Amino acid sequence: MVDVRTDLIQRLIRAGTGSDEEIAVLLDDVGLPRFVQALTEEIVFRCPEPANTMPIDVALEVTYGKESHTSVLRVAQGAAVTVVEEESATVWSKIGISAADLLRRLFGPADSRRTGDFHNSFVPAPEDRAQLQAMYFKLDTLMRAAAQATHTVMSGCSARCGELGNLSIRYGSDKWASFHWYTPHYERHFAPYRDRPVRVLEIGIGGYEDDLGGPSLKMWKRYFHRGLIFGLDLYDKSALNETRLTALTGDQGDPGALVAMAEEHGPFDIIIDDGSHMNDHVHTSFRALFPYVRTGGLYVVEDLQTAYFSDFGGSSGGVAEPHTSIGLLKALLDDVHFQEHATEDGAEPNLTQSTVTGLHVYHNIAFVEKGVNGEDTLPAWMHADAWEALGAK
Ligand SMILES: C[S@@+](CC[C@H](N)C(=O)[O-])C[C@H]1O[C@@H](n2cnc3c(N)ncnc32)[C@H](O)[C@@H]1O
Repeated sequence: MVDVRTDLIQRLIRAGTGSDEEIAVLLDDVGLPRFVQALTEEIVFRCPEPANTMPIDVALEVTYGKESHTSVLRVAQGAAVTVVEEESATVWSKIGISAADLLRRLFGPADSRRTGDFHNSFVPAPEDRAQLQAMYFKLDTLMRAAAQATHTVMSGCSARCGELGNLSIRYGSDKWASFHWYTPHYERHFAPYRDRPVRVLEIGIGGYEDDLGGPSLKMWKRYFHRGLIFGLDLYDKSALNETRLTALTGDQGDPGALVAMAEEHGPFDIIIDDGSHMNDHVHTSFRALFPYVRTGGLYVVEDLQTAYFSDFGGSSGGVAEPHTSIGLLKALLDDVHFQEHATEDGAEPNLTQSTVTGLHVYHNIAFVEKGVNGEDTLPAWMHADAWEALGAK
């Protein structure tokens, strides 16, 4: 069964890089109000924390030919940005933009700076000016608050999201400045995927049993502005579900459940294992899910330190054994070089030998690249045995 919300958001994502004609086809099909409603939901999610202490209602007027549809967003420090009914709003700032330009701001490429595609006005109605004086507001205070609120909404109308470390702090993930310092590594390896309509799966949603969690899923949703984000956790966190974010329930130690989940929701461009960090779970999840990483994708394993923690099933000495997460990575390093192994003639490479094309290991985190591991350094007959048979030293 097609999930109507997911279907619409996927069409919007695709149209974000499409032509004017493709956007018009979509608009004619879904209608401007539904189009604006879906984009407004996305803007509300993307807005940074408001700076204005005085609450401000910002109107977003979206036009398509002669048609227009307005959403009003209430912006105030200390509260989430919300959509309010136009009739009950006091609008101090109005943003006007065409439907196509707004769509491209949200789902077009993040690296193209957008400016000059909207107009903005500070709009106190004459009776409001009188009201202003009566309430002893200073006009400059109000204008400053309106400017701050407009900035918040315009930041929400953007694919750009700032540095990943800031997003981690904003949403409360421990991927930066909380014992872990992972976000620069993520930025380095995830940058090529940012503008793509990726499917990302993270094992481990956070928050444990009683707390809903989900900080890193929100961080990925903001970072991958065209992405569909999936989380998998032992506990039911489906209350987190919203557009572009799906929380699934399952045990990463159960290969059958992982395969069933991946058959339904995969393949994925990126999988991140930030779950139990039990060494056997890391192996089980990798073996079950690596086949569901797309060619050209990445599999990330966090918190490799548990390879040395015996209570996580790790090695207790300084050398990580094969059953640990580090042991898995060491084996993959051999797999990357399978062409150089002196194997029996005709032996077929296994999945990791034929598809692991790169390994990047940093303190406590590793990125495994999937592709076609097909570079041939030497023909098989030039292996050591063959040279020996030819009498070479
Ligand atoms: C470290 S937290 C994840 C933090 C989150 N990824 C972040 O960066 O904010 C680990 C999560 O893994 C989940 N978890 C523990 N054991 C699991 C298992 N066997 N299968 C799936 N999830 C598990 C926990 O419930 C917890 O929510």
